[in-house]
Amino acid sequence: MAHVFGSFAVLAIIFSTAMAADRSPLQDFCVADMNGQVLVNGYTCKTGSLVQANDFYFGGLHIMGNTSNAFGVGRTPVFGTQLPGLNTLGISMARVDFAPSGSFSPHTHPRATEILTILEGSLEVGFVTSNPENRLISKVLYKGDVFVFPVGLIHYQRNVGNTNVIGIAAFTSQNPGLISIPNVVFGSKPDISTDILAKAFQTSENIINSIQLKF
Ligand SMILES: *[C@@H]1O[C@H](CO)[C@@H](O)[C@H](O)[C@H]1NC(C)=O
Repeated sequence: MAHVFGSFAVLAIIFSTAMAADRSPLQDFCVADMNGQVLVNGYTCKTGSLVQANDFYFGGLHIMGNTSNAFGVGRTPVFGTQLPGLNTLGISMARVDFAPSGSFSPHTHPRATEILTILEGSLEVGFVTSNPENRLISKVLYKGDVFVFPVGLIHYQRNVGNTNVIGIAAFTSQNPGLISIPNVVFGSKPDISTDILAKAFQTSENIINSIQLKF
C-alpha cells in the first residue's frame, strides 16, 4: 500500500511540474471581457457571438520600442491585456529593443518560462540557478539565436554590440509577470527595513539607505 501511495506521490510531482503553466482552456476560446466585473484567474469571457477577428489580433510589432530611458530598453508586450484572445491560452509574447549598452536589470517572471529569439544585434544573456548552487549560465546571442529562461529563475540581458538589438520573447503565460530585483529589494513601498538589507548584503545601513534613495 505504501508503495502504491509512493507511486502516486511521484506521479503527482511529475504532473504538477509538467502542468506548471496557465490551465488548459475548456472551450475553443475565452476572449477577455475587459469590462467584466467578476474576478477570476484571468479575465471573464466575452459573449461568443460578439467575438470578432480583431479580438485575436495585435498590430505594430514591427515598430521599435522606446529605448529613451535609464536602461536603454524598450518593451512592447502582447499579453492578455493587449490581445484579449490570449485570455486562458497560457501563452503571450513581447518585442524587446535594446539601445547600444542598454541592459535589462536582473528580473524574473513568476508565472512563465521565456524563450527569446534575436532578430538583430548581439545580446549577452544569463540566468542564475536556485540555491545552493547559484550557478550563472550565460551566453552571447546573435541574429537567429534562441535562448530559454526557465520559469522563476532570475535573468538579465545586455546589449554587447554597437547596434540596436531586436528580440522577440514568448512566454508560457498570458500574464508572465515581472519582478525586477532592484525594485523589489530597494524600491518597495514602504521600504524593507535597512537593518534587514544591511545584514542580507553584509554592508552598512548607510549604504543601503543611499541605494534605497535612488528608487
Ligand atoms: C520615449 O520616452 C521618453 C521618456 O519617457 C519620452 O520623453 C519620449 O517622448 C518618448 N519618445 C517617443 C517617440 O515616444
